[in-house]
Amino acid sequence: IDLSIMSPQDAANHLFKNSEILAPMVRASTTPLRTLALSHGASLVYTEELVDRSISASERIVNTELGTIDYRVPKHTYSLKVQKRMAADKDNPDSENGAILLRIDPIVERNKLIYQIGTGESNLALEAATKVISDVNGIDINMGCPKKFSVSGGMGSALLSDTKRACDIISTLRRNLSKPVSAKIRLLDPEDPRPTIDFVKALISSGANAITIHGRIVGDESHTMARWTTLVEVVRQLKQTESVPIIVNGDLYTRADILEIKSRSLCDGVMLARPALYNVSLFRKGEAEETTSTTDEIPLPQFQSTDHSGYYGYNSPLLHSRTSVVQEYLAHCIRYRAHSKNAKYVVCEMMNSRRAPTNRVPYLNMQYESGQTIATVCKCRSLDDLVKVWDVKYTIPFPKTT
Ligand code: FNR
Repeated sequence: IDLSIMSPQDAANHLFKNSEILAPMVRASTTPLRTLALSHGASLVYTEELVDRSISASERIVNTELGTIDYRVPKHTYSLKVQKRMAADKDNPDSENGAILLRIDPIVERNKLIYQIGTGESNLALEAATKVISDVNGIDINMGCPKKFSVSGGMGSALLSDTKRACDIISTLRRNLSKPVSAKIRLLDPEDPRPTIDFVKALISSGANAITIHGRIVGDESHTMARWTTLVEVVRQLKQTESVPIIVNGDLYTRADILEIKSRSLCDGVMLARPALYNVSLFRKGEAEETTSTTDEIPLPQFQSTDHSGYYGYNSPLLHSRTSVVQEYLAHCIRYRAHSKNAKYVVCEMMNSRRAPTNRVPYLNMQYESGQTIATVCKCRSLDDLVKVWDVKYTIPFPKTT
């Protein structure tokens, strides 16, 4: 399929309708996790949020050795102190050349990659988007991050209370780019669907081709349950008048959760962040899901059911073991030459069930069969150490490059 000859809205419909998406996650949604999620059946993957100015200052390199496109922060732009530290970091495969901001596999991620920008200004957003647009399938604006770093720069959730600025960013990108432009937002009110609906409608009028809604408001703790009831109401009402794809996000920990939220909200797709980090094989669909176009024919559990132990639950035969997904992840880290510190961070997050709803999804509490703990992972000094600790036995082949 050649998405480039489609209108942005047709391309967005193709990408987002019936989608199951790996969410943008800072430090986690890099090449290894994205390509692993795709191998398990994710239909679309987001980059981590990368701030407009840093991507604009990067250089684009065709990496013939790895078969990737790299966006790299040139070494000379670092302070001497940082340059020295990088040079001394023997495990940094890119220490000679500067840090990799974004690495794209143009074959595996073809027609499946969205770049998420952290931005608060339309001109800066456009500059960053223009830089990467030829290597990605769409541009998403982060309108949900509540962290001080984002909000103080007018980015992330600051845009939720500045509709004019948010719309200006969307319309500027829409006028100047020929690929889909989308936004990821949070609920604006815990119970009243109206403010969120009004905000989404304003973005759509400004040209947004798809919207993702995270079912929490600014100020909600990440470990408390997402507000599905309000989220469902928002999406159902939006779907009565709007045709652009609407994606839902928040606490979708089992196939049962995914099927339920789809059938209840009539959303066009789902996005998974922590659930995919804890077990990326959650993107694997059951046979019934594969062969039906609507979820109506699949016997669904009750909404917010406490029974997650069946075929679509946490004991599903569809799932790979949590040990196996860490091993797979490390094989992808080797393939894409991830920095060991980054790999370590992500493996620790995969193992860490501190914020997981272990009452609903008890297997997230399990011990690893070979006794790996976060402490043993922290002791690793290189990818080789990690591979040994996890007994990774296979490698991901490199594609033949021309
Ligand atoms: C996030 N989230 C996030 N959101 C976003 O728009 N851009 C980002 O870069 C990040 N980074 C990020 C890092 C990590 C480690 C986590 C856990 C989360 C928020 C994320 O995409 C999602 O909206 C929430 O985590 C809720 O979804 P889940 O986790 O319940 O599926």
